[in-house]
Amino acid sequence: MRKVEPADLRTEEFMRNPFPVWRRLREEQPLFWDEPSGMWLLTRYDDVMKVLGDGAVYSARTYQERFRPVFGRTLAELDGPRHIRERTIVAPAFVGKALESYRPLIAAAVGRLRDALHGRGEFDLVDTVTSRLPLGTISNLLGFDEDKLDMLFEVGTTMLAGLGGTPEAQARAREAHFRLAGHLEPILEDRAASPRDDLISKIVGAEVEGDSLSREEICSFISFLLAAGGPTTDMAIRNFWWALLEDPSRLEACRGGEEQIQRAFSESLRRDGAIVYEDRRTNVETEWYGRTIPADTDVMICLGSANTDDQAFSHPEEFDPDRTDLLMGVERKYGIREGGVSGHMAFGLGSHFCMGYQLARAEVVAATSQLLLDLPSPRVREPQGFRINFYERTVPALPVSVG
Ligand code: HEM
Repeated sequence: MRKVEPADLRTEEFMRNPFPVWRRLREEQPLFWDEPSGMWLLTRYDDVMKVLGDGAVYSARTYQERFRPVFGRTLAELDGPRHIRERTIVAPAFVGKALESYRPLIAAAVGRLRDALHGRGEFDLVDTVTSRLPLGTISNLLGFDEDKLDMLFEVGTTMLAGLGGTPEAQARAREAHFRLAGHLEPILEDRAASPRDDLISKIVGAEVEGDSLSREEICSFISFLLAAGGPTTDMAIRNFWWALLEDPSRLEACRGGEEQIQRAFSESLRRDGAIVYEDRRTNVETEWYGRTIPADTDVMICLGSANTDDQAFSHPEEFDPDRTDLLMGVERKYGIREGGVSGHMAFGLGSHFCMGYQLARAEVVAATSQLLLDLPSPRVREPQGFRINFYERTVPALPVSVG
């Protein structure tokens, strides 16, 4: 059989079903030179885990080029002690007690969407729910008033369009970032003077060894949050719900309770994770499969392929919430690969491991149990298919009829 060529990663067939090409890469060309992007591509589970776990060799500074023109400097592009310092300031605002205090806000956002669907027989769950819930939740968490939701959607979409986009799209995105900063300014003043139980107060008040974030750093972080926590969660819910709607027995199994939903969501993140690639840049010379990779070289790692590697998961291309080789439930920052159990990498791994992973889970469980399972016999009106677009893989729509 001929070797895989870069063009094979760009066909419509690949975009719709990447699994056969990823399988061949893992088996025959585990280190692959992707000429058009000028990057080396790694696809095996253990190789992807090694890159993400070694921040000293594989730097996240590639994000400077993609993110900085829009948001300014964010922690996504930092390495080492500076990254740890910033992450330690903001990370506690997303887990533990803080997360518990957000649950009523998530429930309120889900409740509003459920009310909006009441009495309607046909709708697209993407338009009506999945695209709205994550930003609605972040807006609630930030303490924005209800009337700011449309502005947040507009700003979020404009900023996203600017990431890696044309110079005009980047300029519009930068302007949207400053507009958001303008809305944030009075809220930051207010929370500094009288803190509330919301995310902004936690970020404004957070200090680690006397260090806190400047106003500019906070505005950059919050703009980045809209991009990091909005579309990713939207796509994760779409991908999960599509797996449930495609086979009603899966939806039925989720009626068994929260544990069933959590298991099925873990399996969806593994097989149908929304982010399929990540980039890193080498700090020093490294060697892979007998080839020397110089310092300052871009390496792309394929989370989608790692998550469907048969060296880690049996029958990896099947959706099986009862599998015993996947870590079910809450993920671990540095992953797990022992005793026949491996973790999925849909939230990344290592020092840049997703900060909102528990928040995303809380949103998905609330939306699935309060809304999807509440709809009277939801049926898909038109079959959908997954498609890769740039670094993402999702279904475009979820048109359903109910009743
Ligand atoms: C299911 C939904 C989500 C998915 C699939 C996802 C995926 C990811 C991935 C793969 C990374 C690692 C990027 C890298 O290593 O280069 C990441 C980082 C991050 N995510 Fe998420 N994410 C989700 C939801 C969220 C939410 C809800 C938030 C917060 C509102 C969030 C905030 C962040 C932040 C701040 C980072 C950067 C962490 C750092 O650089 O140290 N994410 N996410």
